[in-house]
Amino acid sequence: MIEALGVTKRYGDLVAVNDVSFKAEAGEVVGFLGPNGAGKTTTMRMLTGFLPATDGTAVVDGHDIFDEPLAARRAIGYLPETPPLYPEMDVSGYLKYVARIKDVPRSGRKQAVERALERCGLSHVARRVIGSLSKGYRQRVGLAQAIVHDPPVLILDEPTVGLDPNQILEIRELIRDLAAPREGEPSHTVILSTHILPEVEAICRRVIMIHDGQKVLDDSMENLTRDGGRLEDVFARFTLRETGADAAAPEGGEEAVQ
Ligand SMILES: Nc1ncnc2c1ncn2[C@@H]1O[C@H](COP(=O)(O)OP(=O)(O)OP(=O)(O)O)[C@@H](O)[C@H]1O
Ligand SMILES: [Mg+2]
Repeated sequence: MIEALGVTKRYGDLVAVNDVSFKAEAGEVVGFLGPNGAGKTTTMRMLTGFLPATDGTAVVDGHDIFDEPLAARRAIGYLPETPPLYPEMDVSGYLKYVARIKDVPRSGRKQAVERALERCGLSHVARRVIGSLSKGYRQRVGLAQAIVHDPPVLILDEPTVGLDPNQILEIRELIRDLAAPREGEPSHTVILSTHILPEVEAICRRVIMIHDGQKVLDDSMENLTRDGGRLEDVFARFTLRETGADAAAPEGGEEAVQ
């Protein structure tokens, strides 16, 4: 579970993220959408503790990111826009290193790395140096480092950017699987940003939209696409208009903004 509570980021006069609150439960895949510059990455960086919020806080798996930053960070797997890779390390060495700094017990590290390699389609390049991999493979390594310690919450900033069509399908399948796993395995909370709306329709149960740093929509996919509604129309409706208290509410959509 993750809850954002009035998260705000100011850069001088610019309010990049303005009082954003939402909650996502285990088993949910939430699409975090908005135009370029809306504040998605900034919000995700604050939720993961990489960027201090100017105001507000977040609770990750019961841990407040300010009061218990280490526990909160351990509970999160984060794929940033630019994954923090070490080009001179080999893939499995790098994942072992990440598992260690994420406090995976020594006895379980090998298995954790093998599982992440397998889930991200990396087993056959485990010994390759990261710097020699193609862009898509480096993206897979980024995803593998986010899941290697099997955190309950995953924050993925454009996870399928740069992947080939087959791999996109596999990664979507993986994300769905993480949220709603087989019996006996823990379910995860996944929040992902993307500009690929069919991707959101394929894997997200809920959509949160931000525009100019403000949350403008938080609703289920089912509601949004009822009666053949298209997500791209919803996106246009909520992100082409002005934000602010006097902005016109969309037709029948007043209750959608929570
Ligand atoms: N370090 C910074 N200093 C000043 N402004 C910043 C900084 N980082 C981000 N911003 C601004 O904050 C706003 C939100 O940026 P952010 O990267 O969160 O957008 P985004 O929704 O992730 O966009 P994209 O879809 O292009 O990835 C933008 O106006 C951006 O220019
Ligand atoms: Mg971004």
